[in-house]
Amino acid sequence: METIKVAVNGYGVIGKRVAEAVTLQDDMELVGIGDVAADWRIKVVAAKGYTIFANTEEGRNAMDKANIPVAGGLDDLLEATDVVVDCAPKKFGAQNAEKYKRARLKYIVQGGEKHETTGHSFSAENNYASALNRENTRVVSCNTTSIVRTLSALKRAGLLKKARGTLLRRATDPWESHKNGIMNTLVPEPEIPSHQGPDAQSVDPELDVVTAAVKVPETLSHLHYWTVQLTKQASKEDVLEAFATSTRTAFINMSDDLSANNAVKELMLDLGRPHGDMYEVAIWEDMLKVEGDELYYAYLVDNQAIVIPETIDAIRALTGIEPDSPKSIEKTNRSLGITQRFI
Ligand SMILES: NC(=O)c1ccc[n+]([C@@H]2O[C@H](COP(=O)([O-])OP(=O)(O)OC[C@H]3O[C@@H](n4cnc5c(N)ncnc54)[C@H](O)[C@@H]3O)[C@@H](O)[C@H]2O)c1
Repeated sequence: METIKVAVNGYGVIGKRVAEAVTLQDDMELVGIGDVAADWRIKVVAAKGYTIFANTEEGRNAMDKANIPVAGGLDDLLEATDVVVDCAPKKFGAQNAEKYKRARLKYIVQGGEKHETTGHSFSAENNYASALNRENTRVVSCNTTSIVRTLSALKRAGLLKKARGTLLRRATDPWESHKNGIMNTLVPEPEIPSHQGPDAQSVDPELDVVTAAVKVPETLSHLHYWTVQLTKQASKEDVLEAFATSTRTAFINMSDDLSANNAVKELMLDLGRPHGDMYEVAIWEDMLKVEGDELYYAYLVDNQAIVIPETIDAIRALTGIEPDSPKSIEKTNRSLGITQRFI
C-alpha cells in the first residue's frame, strides 16, 4: 500500500498527539520530529524511537548537550517528507510555512495561525472536498473545530438559522500550568464577537454565528453554551438526530454524574484513551432543551485532542490519497477509537 511520509514540526501539546496518531495510520509513516527544545519533552521523543531533527543551530547545540540523538536539520527532515504538519507555537507556524513553500512541500498549519497563511481553513466533515490535492491548509483551532462540527450538523439537517455562543476557555494547558495561567479571576475577551465566530466563517462563510469568550482558571477543557435560532419548530429528538450526523460528537448525561469536565476527563482516562484525550465534542444530552424554534445546549471541548483527527484527515485530503471524505473520517475514527459512544 502507498504510504504518505509525514513530518511533525513542533512536538508540544498538539505535535506529540499528531505524531502518535500518524503512527496509527496504515497509509502514513512518521519520518521524524522537528523541534528547537532539548528538555524532558524532547527526550521522550527519543525514548519513543522517533527520529529527531533540530530546527535551528541553537536547538542542535542544546540537543547535543542534552545527549539527544539528532538525525539532522530541518532541511534534512523536509527532504524525506511528503507532508509536513506544523505544530510550532502561534506565529512560528507562519514563519515555518515560508520554508515549506521554498522546499515545495505540502503542509498543514494549526489554528494559532491566520487563515491567510494558507488561504484554506479545514474542518473534515464540512470542507474536506475543497482541501483535496491543495498545497496547504490550516486546521482550525479547538474551539472553532467544535463550533463548525456542531453547527454543520444542524445545518445539514436544515435546522440552523443563527447561533450565539459563550465560550468558557481553559486558561492554559495542564503541563505548563506552573508557568502560565490565571487564578481567582475570570478574564473576558475584550471584544464581542470574540475571534472564534469569525474564524468558523473562514471554514463556512454561510454560518450566522456570534461568540463571546471568557478565560477561566482551570486547565482541562473548554465549555461552550449555545443558543440557536432554528429554521422551524423542532423536537429535542430532531436536534439529537442532527448532532448524531457528526461522527465526532458524543452525548453525555448529567444523570450519569458526568456533570463537570473533571468527571469527563476521568472517564477518558478510565477508558484508556491516550493522555485521557477526548476527540469528540461532548454534548450534554439531558441538559439540551428545545422550545419551539429555539435550541439551548452546552458541551465540552478537549482543546488538546479535538484537532488531532482533523489533522489526520487533512493529511489525506492534501495528498489526495483518499478522495472520499467519509472514508477518511471513518478510517481516522477507527484508528483513534472514536465511536460516538463513550460507554
Ligand atoms: N494547546 C492547545 O490546546 C491547542 C489546541 C488547538 C490548536 N492549537 C494550536 O496548535 C499549535 C501548537 O500549539 P501547542 O499548544 O501544541 O504548542 P506548544 O507550546 O505545546 O508546543 C510547541 C512546540 O514547538 C516547538 N517549537 C518552538 N519553535 C519552533 C520552531 N520554530 N519550529 C519547530 N518547533 C518549534 C516548541 O519547543 C514546542 O515543543 C498552535 O498554533 C496552537 O494555537 C493548540
